[in-house]
Amino acid sequence: MSENESRFSRLPKPQGNTRPPELLDDRRIDVKSQRNEDAFGQMLWDHHQGKRSVEIVEREDGWVGVAGGPTAYFKSYDDWRPHEQEAVKHARGRVLDVGCGPGRHAIHQQDQGLDVFGIDVSPLAIRTARARGLRNARLFQVTQVSSKLGRFDTIIMMGNNFGLFANLKRARWLLRRFHGMTGPDARIIAESADPYTTTKECHLDYQKANRKRGKFSLQMTIRIRYEQLIGPWFEYLKVSQDEMESILVGTGWRISKFIPDTGDIYCGIMEKV
Ligand SMILES: C[S@@+](CC[C@H](N)C(=O)[O-])C[C@H]1O[C@@H](n2cnc3c(N)ncnc32)[C@H](O)[C@@H]1O
Repeated sequence: MSENESRFSRLPKPQGNTRPPELLDDRRIDVKSQRNEDAFGQMLWDHHQGKRSVEIVEREDGWVGVAGGPTAYFKSYDDWRPHEQEAVKHARGRVLDVGCGPGRHAIHQQDQGLDVFGIDVSPLAIRTARARGLRNARLFQVTQVSSKLGRFDTIIMMGNNFGLFANLKRARWLLRRFHGMTGPDARIIAESADPYTTTKECHLDYQKANRKRGKFSLQMTIRIRYEQLIGPWFEYLKVSQDEMESILVGTGWRISKFIPDTGDIYCGIMEKV
């Protein structure tokens, strides 16, 4: 027994609830917030089963908002935004869809005759993608991908999935890894959203605080909530076109083209230097 343990064991045992009610409430919230559930995947699976819902995002600063899912993640090619339709035309050969979700891009490309491999960290996203017809979908973290998966000609990161690069260090490490597992004419097709179009004070404050901490303006820590389920906190990055270009420096990739949308969203097409 350590000195501290013996000191605590000599303290009288608390009688009843000694914590003030407000602390008890906080503790209940804390216990819940530790849950690491597949909230995103459950939302997708339920949508696939016909149950309608919205995608709730919670940010570390307490901001809560509604994102585009799940409906957006089930849209077929004809209903995609023009920049998405244009971007996926750059895919060829063997395709890796990173964070494929229910597989709208992967399934479209599979239908075009491409050899597509979809990965996602969410078990229920993978289940949904398979149920919708994606033949090759596996449970994988983006950080687990390696040349063991074979050689790819295209890596797609749609649905703002440039965000899965998370931060500068991880982005450069992953981009170098992608370099090693792709052919000489390979492409990365990645979507992001320019953080600097917002005028909302709550977002501007968060961006300012991030820059103060040495982060990108929209290097977010967020989690997904669905009904009573709470997903794990994770980092998600949104960058301007200039920031995207600066991240690629020294990774062996360069921007060959930006495909803008009418709003803040755009796709970057990357090729090897
Ligand atoms: C915004 S959704 C986009 C889904 C799909 N690409 C689309 O556009 O419809 C992001 C997806 O990335 C997955 N994801 C999140 N973090 C991941 C990680 N670290 N590795 C692999 N997939 C991840 C999520 O589970 C989710 O399915």
